[in-house]
Amino acid sequence: MSGAARPLGEGTRAVRAGLPDPVKHEPALPGPVFAAHFHLPGDPTGPYTYGRDENPTWTRLERAVGELEAPGGDGVHTLVFASGMAAVSSVLFSQLRAGDTVVLPDDGYQALPLVREQLEAYGVRVRTAPTGGDAQLDVLDGARLLWIETPSNPGLDVCDIRRLVEAAHARGALVAVDNTLATPLGQRPLELGADFSVASGTKQLTGHGDILLGYVCGRDDAAMTAVRRWRKLVGAIPGPMEAWLAHRSLATLPLRVDRQDATALVVAEALRDWPEDLKVRYPGLPSDPSHAIAVRQMRRHGCVVSFTLPSRARAERFLHALRLVDDATSFGGVRSTAERRGRWGGDAVPEGFIRLSVGAEDPEDLVADVLRALRESAQ
Ligand SMILES: Cc1ncc(COP(=O)(O)O)c(C=O)c1O
Repeated sequence: MSGAARPLGEGTRAVRAGLPDPVKHEPALPGPVFAAHFHLPGDPTGPYTYGRDENPTWTRLERAVGELEAPGGDGVHTLVFASGMAAVSSVLFSQLRAGDTVVLPDDGYQALPLVREQLEAYGVRVRTAPTGGDAQLDVLDGARLLWIETPSNPGLDVCDIRRLVEAAHARGALVAVDNTLATPLGQRPLELGADFSVASGTKQLTGHGDILLGYVCGRDDAAMTAVRRWRKLVGAIPGPMEAWLAHRSLATLPLRVDRQDATALVVAEALRDWPEDLKVRYPGLPSDPSHAIAVRQMRRHGCVVSFTLPSRARAERFLHALRLVDDATSFGGVRSTAERRGRWGGDAVPEGFIRLSVGAEDPEDLVADVLRALRESAQ
């Protein structure tokens, strides 16, 4: 037997992530601390002064998320936010100044065009590039920040984080990766060199479709100080109850992602084998254009599968025929959801494009339901 201690496995780390040292008669995960202010006689020194700045329930959650995004990573700061968009905005608006240039994906989360408008209104120059094929390389010169979303929502394209980080850093640009779809168990952007890993915790991270949350992890002290300052200014803070529920959910993250991501592959294979060409996208499918990079930089491929039905009417009939999959937006929850993404008008997708989020149901039941709905909707 080797004398070197084996690093703890992911499941073990997840159930213990962010827990305080055991204290007799205290629970393993202390309950949410509801406080707008804390006792503070004399000079106002931290850690806990005012509820918009810090809260012990956030501190434990931030430690936990940091342990998952950067295991053993010293010097990584994590900040939690009221939502994914609060986290996204905190990085973009705290790092960019009038005259700076930022590169955004043109196929990312549908709120990014709104962010673009706001950045441009503040005098920030915005360039865009598609996620697949590392097309960002062509528009990096002079940029201050490169924003990557991989896999992209909803198209599920993947780009090479390490390659783009090297190119961006060589030009003096920072890199932020939206890690929502992958979760920290699917991919760890900071280990691939990114300066920020940002995510919506509303999705698979918390996984029950009942809370909104976001976070930013980063290594650079000055950059993260600016992000913290932005959170204080804007006040986009999570409630203690949400933060506590999120922390509680992290213990089951490995169980949920293993189950959901494995079933997503089974569903993707069933859709691929369907007699119509559904243009199925799933980075875990060997035939997928994203697969080669996905297997290099991801450890799991996510719970979202996308595909395209021939028309809007067919897609609507399909969604209506599903019994085990709710017609709802968002993704990552233990209950499967699907939607016709074109109904929002914000994504460049065909009218029949479906984004399917695979939950924790039994794979056979889910596949049977999806295939039955495909059959019924074809008539
Ligand atoms: C990739 C991605 N980033 C950010 C967000 C925003 O997260 P939230 O809805 O928690 O604000 C979403 C939401 O769907 C998303 O899919």
